[in-house]
Amino acid sequence: MKDLDKVKGEIEQLRAEINHHNYRYYVLDSPEISDAEYDGLMRELKELEEQYPQFLTPDSPTQRVGAAPVEAFGVVEHPFPLLSLGNAFSKEELLAWYSRISKLTGKQQFNFACEHKIDGLAVALSYANGQLTIGATRGDGFRGENITQNLRTIRSIPLSMPKEAPTRFEVRGEVFLPKAGFDKLNQERAEEGLPLFANPRNAAAGSVRQLDSRITAKRPLDIYIYMLGYAEGKPTPVTQWETMEYLKSLGFKVNPNNRLLSSIEQVEEYHHTWVERRESLPYEVDGIVVKVDSLDLQRQLGAIGHEPRWAIAYKFPAIQGTTRLIDIGISVGRTGTLNPYAILEPVSVGGVTIKQAALHNEDDIRRKDIRIGDTVIVQRAGEVIPEVIGPVISKRTGKEKEFSLEEKVFDTEKKRPACPECKAEVIKPEGEVMYYCSNAACPAQIQQRIEHFASRGAMDIRGIGESQSAMLLREGLVKDVADLYDLSQEQLASLERMGDKSANNIITAINNSKRQPLARVVFGLGIRHIGGEMAELLAKHFGSIDNLAKASRDDLTQIATVGPKIADSIIAFFRQEENRRIIERLKTAGVRLEEAVKPKELPLTGKEFVITGRLEALSRDEAEARIKALGGSTKDNVTQKTSYLVVGADPGSKLAKAQALGIEQIKEEELLQLLGQKT
Ligand code: IVH
Repeated sequence: MKDLDKVKGEIEQLRAEINHHNYRYYVLDSPEISDAEYDGLMRELKELEEQYPQFLTPDSPTQRVGAAPVEAFGVVEHPFPLLSLGNAFSKEELLAWYSRISKLTGKQQFNFACEHKIDGLAVALSYANGQLTIGATRGDGFRGENITQNLRTIRSIPLSMPKEAPTRFEVRGEVFLPKAGFDKLNQERAEEGLPLFANPRNAAAGSVRQLDSRITAKRPLDIYIYMLGYAEGKPTPVTQWETMEYLKSLGFKVNPNNRLLSSIEQVEEYHHTWVERRESLPYEVDGIVVKVDSLDLQRQLGAIGHEPRWAIAYKFPAIQGTTRLIDIGISVGRTGTLNPYAILEPVSVGGVTIKQAALHNEDDIRRKDIRIGDTVIVQRAGEVIPEVIGPVISKRTGKEKEFSLEEKVFDTEKKRPACPECKAEVIKPEGEVMYYCSNAACPAQIQQRIEHFASRGAMDIRGIGESQSAMLLREGLVKDVADLYDLSQEQLASLERMGDKSANNIITAINNSKRQPLARVVFGLGIRHIGGEMAELLAKHFGSIDNLAKASRDDLTQIATVGPKIADSIIAFFRQEENRRIIERLKTAGVRLEEAVKPKELPLTGKEFVITGRLEALSRDEAEARIKALGGSTKDNVTQKTSYLVVGADPGSKLAKAQALGIEQIKEEELLQLLGQKT
């Protein structure tokens, strides 16, 4: 048995180190160590915490994985209402706002804090005694939903504060899904026939309002903090700009594109700059927010209804355009899906020429009533691939043609619909929205399977992308993903436009990929309907590829989110001789096909708490949040199932009931001990 104090010290040291690297990576976007080194530190910490669960605390960096689903979110009363913003759509409207605030304050010169208006959702984060206690949505501005569990999974939200932080305070900011994460999520949903998110905002809101925070944890959400709600116990700055600098010093993520400007002309310029450059940003912005910098003047100006007079959203023009839909083409996806896409008369939208756009699936085309020949609205929202929003009905001439995928791929020789790449039969499984090429050896599919296997979200083999996969296939060096592990440096170096150095790098990347977690392999295999999130669930549940391969339909549907469609797809995949052979060869090559760490229980898993009376050190909401963070649950009433009744000052009738039922009663200090806090 090790000296416990020493272990505790080691754990704290590791946490501090990991928190530092989290901060470098997620807040500053400037990592100091490699992913592998980071994973190593995390593994070490996890192992120690598993061995010594008495030292596990909710603010540990290992506790960002999400917890068991809740039935509904609790309600949080905001200490101060969360306001929204008035809009200006033109320079004139901006100037009108400026002359209003001039008149109201009698001033001509202002400092303005200018920020990007990110299209996400507003959240309020409360900290008490150095810990994140509550995270809430805006709701109606007065009362929001308690989504602490979900927000804890966002790596750029600090779980704990340095000593200098105020005792209690609240910050507000915008949670968002970067464009790349949005595209990936929608692509996965399209393949699974799920309804698509209309924009990154909806996707972020959908992710954050998941009852199962493990799903939230899988989405690459991020946050920028834009306001200090209130603070107690420490003096805080008197301007918006300094407040942001101050919050940065506490470890919060603040947008580096914020500017402090001293005239309305400069504001106009800032707006103009970002209208031009918005496309280059990794997140979706719909305008800028102009804030009077002095908090004193802000108070003086006040608000009308929900809208402060001291700030305004100066919106960007929408990036949409209209053009003619010349035709609908079909490409073959990695799982054999036949994906329709729009072939457009080239049009410039926000400075970029668009010739093609996504159409997702036949149902979607019908629902939007898009016909070939239509004038359509195209939009470049968070998309790398632009999207057709819908037809302009008033421009119809009557010559437009409805689209049918079966007709489109109909082969006159074979007298049936055929895969446009390999001419194999086309199938549409019962209840699905996608059509598929039935030939697993279809070259278009193989190339995309290799590309997918090597992609960042899967085995992360840098250097193997679209063109390299195509080349490897063409040269006959690979026919399936297992062949990647037989490649030699010489073979790679002999490829067109590939030097010795790149070939070496690829070999290293291939070797490193053998240590990727099981979930990545499961995802990388490209089983139909299995996205990144589902792969994680499967890997956790089954623990090894062999167990997954053996699983029956019943075993699979045990998992709450696995329906018969997904189960059948997994079974069909492992039933194929060819796939089983590939897995055996991956095994021989040394690819990790088992979960590294066993699934772990949290210290309070299965424990149900009821609280009665007034607590001293914690508010009710904080106590509940922290119990849940350690895997416990809280209820309003004492029943046979209650594990502990927490008895505060002036307890109510619950105490008598607990005594009658023989339920264990604990004081607040004991609760704090269970929560891993010194008393
Ligand atoms: S300040 C009174 N700053 O825009 C202050 N809001 O339309 C209101 N938003 O609910 C918020 N980026 O969700 C502020 N830099 C920013 C923002 C921002 C995005 C959102 C926020 C708010 C909505 C108001």
